Amino acid sequence: MTHPPPLSVTLIALLILISITATSASNGTVLIVRGNATITSVNKTFELGFFSTNTNGDSSSSYYYLGIWYTSVTPKTYVWVANRNTPTRNLDTSSFELNRLGRLAVKASENVTVWQSSNPEAPSFFQFRDDGNLVLLSPDRTVAWQSFDHPTDTWLPGMNLTRDKVLTCWRTVSDPSPGFYSLRLNSHDFGEFGLVYNSTEEYWTTGNWTGQSFSNVPEMNAPYIYRFNFVDPFSPTASFGFKVKPLDPTGSVPLTMFRVEYNGRFRQYTWWNPIENWDQFWVRPSDVCRVYGLCGSFGLCGGGGGSRTCECVGGFKPRNDAAWESEDYTGGCVRENLLCGGNDESFQGIGAVRFDGAVEKSFFGDKGRCKRECLKNCECIGLYYNERSRSCTNLYGSLLNLQKLNYSEGGENILYLRVNGVMKVRKSLNLVVLIGSIVGSVLFLGFMGVMGFVLVKRKWNGVIEEDREFGVLNIRVFSYKELHIATRGFSEKLGHGGFGTVFQGELKDSSLVAVKRLDRPGGAEREFRAEVCTIGNIQHVNLVRLRGFCSEKSHRLLVYDYMPNGCLSVYLRQEGPHNLSWDVRFRVAVGTARGLAYLHEECRDCIIHCDIKPENILLDNEFNAKVSDFGLAKLIGRDFSRVLATMRGTWGYVAPEWISGVEITTKADVYSYGMTLLELVGGRRNVQPSSTGKEGGGGDGGGAGDKWFFPPWAAQQIIEGNIGAVVDSRLGGAYVVEEVKRVALVAVWCIQDNEVMRPTMGMVVKMLEGLVEVTVPPAPKLLQALVSGESFCGVRAESGNGVSSGSGFYGVDGMAVMSSGGSESSVGNVSSPVNKNVNA
Ligand SMILES: *[C@@H]1O[C@H](CO)[C@@H](O)[C@H](O)[C@H]1NC(C)=O
Ligand SMILES: *[C@@H]1O[C@H](CO)[C@@H](O)[C@H](O)[C@H]1NC(C)=O
Ligand SMILES: *[C@@H]1O[C@H](CO)[C@@H](O)[C@H](O)[C@H]1NC(C)=O
Ligand SMILES: *[C@@H]1O[C@H](CO)[C@@H](O)[C@H](O)[C@H]1NC(C)=O
Ligand SMILES: *[C@@H]1O[C@H](CO)[C@@H](O)[C@H](O)[C@H]1NC(C)=O
Ligand SMILES: *[C@@H]1O[C@H](CO)[C@@H](O)[C@H](O)[C@H]1NC(C)=O
Ligand SMILES: *[C@@H]1O[C@H](CO)[C@@H](O)[C@H](O)[C@H]1NC(C)=O
Ligand SMILES: *[C@@H]1O[C@H](CO)[C@@H](O)[C@H](O)[C@H]1NC(C)=O
Repeated sequence: MTHPPPLSVTLIALLILISITATSASNGTVLIVRGNATITSVNKTFELGFFSTNTNGDSSSSYYYLGIWYTSVTPKTYVWVANRNTPTRNLDTSSFELNRLGRLAVKASENVTVWQSSNPEAPSFFQFRDDGNLVLLSPDRTVAWQSFDHPTDTWLPGMNLTRDKVLTCWRTVSDPSPGFYSLRLNSHDFGEFGLVYNSTEEYWTTGNWTGQSFSNVPEMNAPYIYRFNFVDPFSPTASFGFKVKPLDPTGSVPLTMFRVEYNGRFRQYTWWNPIENWDQFWVRPSDVCRVYGLCGSFGLCGGGGGSRTCECVGGFKPRNDAAWESEDYTGGCVRENLLCGGNDESFQGIGAVRFDGAVEKSFFGDKGRCKRECLKNCECIGLYYNERSRSCTNLYGSLLNLQKLNYSEGGENILYLRVNGVMKVRKSLNLVVLIGSIVGSVLFLGFMGVMGFVLVKRKWNGVIEEDREFGVLNIRVFSYKELHIATRGFSEKLGHGGFGTVFQGELKDSSLVAVKRLDRPGGAEREFRAEVCTIGNIQHVNLVRLRGFCSEKSHRLLVYDYMPNGCLSVYLRQEGPHNLSWDVRFRVAVGTARGLAYLHEECRDCIIHCDIKPENILLDNEFNAKVSDFGLAKLIGRDFSRVLATMRGTWGYVAPEWISGVEITTKADVYSYGMTLLELVGGRRNVQPSSTGKEGGGGDGGGAGDKWFFPPWAAQQIIEGNIGAVVDSRLGGAYVVEEVKRVALVAVWCIQDNEVMRPTMGMVVKMLEGLVEVTVPPAPKLLQALVSGESFCGVRAESGNGVSSGSGFYGVDGMAVMSSGGSESSVGNVSSPVNKNVNA
């Protein structure tokens, strides 16, 4: 956060003077900035001046651009660049002025103008507005020119996008010259924006405007800080802009912008003061490999396993190493050795990939003929072979958009590239293969030993197993008939959740079980078994144990331990007969956290539950918490956009990042867990009719007859130290104040807007156990914004279907993402829920 040099202060004064006292009679030039001087906008939100992205300190190799950036944001975030094609080389002689033609001009030196605004010749006033807009006004105060009409890569609040206002990315992270990717309003008048490569190839579109949102961007329907405004969407004069509504009553508006990034993705940024960083929670295309031409020709996207987005396929090297280093991969790769140059030619299997850009010539018949044909022609670059149809195709030209595919995605075309002289590569590969095979044999022997042991053990136990693959697990395969008998023809229903109906059953050994019959079994039997295998492997005292399953014809059933005390939600009704003591509540809080921490951090494959809510926390006969339904979302396999469509009206309950559709991390569970903790402490549901449930004091929720949303009010009370107001009155004061305080503070930490600020479940356990001190969290503002005013009306109007049904009230009951490792962003300076003095 730099302070503008004193010079700029005088300049601001001067400029305000210019804009107020109409220096229209003057036909001299007005200097705006020179050299390293800067000016700031009226309320100092933006700063204007020359910048260089060269950070190595060697000014002789620097390029200087006249640009606008946020005054308070470090590192500098540029929102506009004037001379992006024509940088200056000497900072001391560079100047920005209002010239005698009444145009803004960037000059490299006294006599050399490198950039000029395009307004007609007329005396003008100059304004640098606080929304980041640089404006020239005619004497009659109409806008003669404004930087908002000439955007670079950034779309700011108040800036309208039209047919002729296209956002074009920077060439690289540090090169403001125009790159290959643009966002433009398509010319066919369906009100559709598209991301295009080189003005020709469209690789992502918003879909048609539907009146409220774009058909491919349903998350725009979510009540968030933006107010979008599309004027004449279906005409050539269409104009699309947005405004930001304040997050809190003081009216402070967060800094926010959209930008076409150098790598072709369109991303949303919101500045979060608490972490002093940009929160980037919406980006399209969500898979960077869907960006056209990102890796250039013969560059493979995302397949290399390395940290780079793009890798050259074997036998190829980057065309431009320096560009490759600066993450500009668009130049692609070239052959290490030219074709037809020697006798060493062979075909290298790349695997199942998708690609564009090649000229194709197909053969029916075997691969051998296809190869021979290819070798005859020096222009032939390789071939792909379709295993299923046994057809083979020779390829000519070059390959763009190479990306590894899974078989299920249509990856049955196996690509073979023709390479010359790859013997070197082969040799090093062989060494790997050799080591691999030694390690492999050792592992194999070990595995055989284990299998032998298991087989013997199984025989001894007398368990009849039809499925060998489940032998190593403690889970049984049930027949449908067996379960039909156990549940007495599926007659004793225990409940109904998002995935299916649950029935009580009694096995032959008279143990009680809960049998879940999946409503909409998706996917093949093989996948089902693979998933069950994963779930069955997960055992923890705070997770409901899967005892077995049944997969016959279209039947898919899961058999779990029976939990005699039902689910937590039963105990969270103020008027209900059941109550839980504080001691039990505290154990439930810690137990649930332990179960989730295990799922997130200790399992071999990290599992995100995605549906944490009181309905999915079961209680055993000693009132220990057992988390149920983990891993199921994957089984059902519903895709996110369809889930989104059914989410309307329950926004307040899911982590904000879900709304945006970015990859979900374990922190989404942390958010839902925090919501559940509030319910546990308050002994109430988070949404309830206000007439029955407002004894805690005047809420800021709704009026009489409306649904009242508990969390924003509760969070406020907790932060203000007024925790007693939040605690369930049915406890009659019988609770440990220290524990209640800890649980309440943890709850608010868990529902922070920014996932980076939320603690991990492992940390939550430590916080609850008192091993680390819990500090007072900041207020989750987004939560308040999401449910305040208009937005909350939407929630009120549409939440009638879920409040008392007890199923899927947290909105999404089916989306799990399995990814390896909880992704902890490493953001410096993150404000932390715990003090540094860890007592453990
Ligand atoms: C300014 O403009 C007036 C007429 O518009 C002209 O007579 C005069 O020479 C100009 N002065 C300069 C310094 O260009
Ligand atoms: C600006 O440049 C002048 C001279 O070139 C130098 O003395 C001054 O320190 C610079 N100011 C900043 C803020 O870099
Ligand atoms: C600048 O700040 C003042 C005081 O906070 C406010 O009244 C005024 O509207 C702001 N002006 C702009 C252009 O934002
Ligand atoms: C600028 O142009 C004037 C007249 O054309 C010339 O006399 C002067 O030397 C030039 N200045 C520089 C720095 O090139
Ligand atoms: C953007 O469009 C809105 C609505 O038509 C208009 O009020 C506003 O002035 C426009 N903004 C700019 C910078 O032209
Ligand atoms: C971009 O498109 C132009 C024609 O519109 C074409 O000549 C040029 O080769 C293309 N560049 C790349 C890198 O695709
Ligand atoms: C947009 O609307 C047009 C005309 O109704 C239709 O042809 C086109 O397929 C639509 N595009 C999308 C992406 O829905
Ligand atoms: C392909 O499958 C692998 C492993 O099964 C998985 O990790 C990867 O995400 C899948 N890729 C795509 C694009 O779905």
